[in-house]
Amino acid sequence: MDDAIDRLHRLIDASTRITVVTGAGVSAASGVPTFRGAGGLWRSFRAEDLATPAAFRRDPRLVWEWYDWRRGIIAACEPNAAHRAIAAWSRRPGFTLITQNVDGLHERAGTSNVLRYHGSIWHLRCATDCGQPEWEDRRAPLPALPPLCPSCGGPARPSVVWFGEPIERAVAAAADAASDCDLFLSIGTSSVVYPAAGLLAQARRRGATTVEINPDATPSTSSVDFVIRMPAEEALRGSS
Ligand SMILES: NC(=O)c1ccc[n+]([C@@H]2O[C@H](COP(=O)([O-])OP(=O)(O)OC[C@H]3O[C@@H](n4cnc5c(N)ncnc54)[C@H](O)[C@@H]3O)[C@@H](O)[C@H]2O)c1
Ligand SMILES: [Zn+2]
Repeated sequence: MDDAIDRLHRLIDASTRITVVTGAGVSAASGVPTFRGAGGLWRSFRAEDLATPAAFRRDPRLVWEWYDWRRGIIAACEPNAAHRAIAAWSRRPGFTLITQNVDGLHERAGTSNVLRYHGSIWHLRCATDCGQPEWEDRRAPLPALPPLCPSCGGPARPSVVWFGEPIERAVAAAADAASDCDLFLSIGTSSVVYPAAGLLAQARRRGATTVEINPDATPSTSSVDFVIRMPAEEALRGSS
């Protein structure tokens, strides 16, 4: 496995345009629960049953209780060695991070050029789109659920992308452009949530060398150039 890590370091040194896509696995060692695997359930609900527009329409308070619980967990978490290694790579020109994580830990580690593909759990917006621009609220727990829009007084929602919702147009376009790179790393993602999971195949078609870092196999495993089958915080410990 040391050979694979050496190979990764050589590739990073030799590449000009590096794009990294991360998922919940990168934050697992910080204590943020992933959606799939151990700790994926909240009260018996699956994430797929809560992170949807239909779930919010049906029971906004329940959805907010789940987000409030997650915000409380994340508020107590610190970036780990994987976030720090990626932050160090981001100081190179030609680097882009596309993260599916909504926890803000990459930003807290000091990462530049971050595309928040699925939004941010710390940002809220009006659920009825009254024209109020999205706002930041880092209180955990929130004083009342659901929190309200300061303009129209209607319910607010987390400014995250729910299952079935499109990626914000400008973010999708920037991620698409970043898939045109020399080296594409897929780290800590189950590679089942689209369109994020499609970025790797797109990078490969455009000639990138592709690498997956994940302790478990994913649908992308068989199509990457090489796999580092380890937790990200171990594979990237001391990398910069
Ligand atoms: N931290 C967060 O912000 C957070 C947490 C949970 C889910 N989500 C959202 O969930 C959706 C689900 O997709 P996903 O692929 O990001 O997560 P996922 O929960 O579907 O998959 C997590 C992946 O991480 C791997 N993993 C677990 N521990 C790891 C480690 N230490 N190092 C490396 N990999 C590890 C697992 O094998 C799995 O493949 C995303 O859209 C994301 O927005 C975000
Ligand atoms: Zn409003």
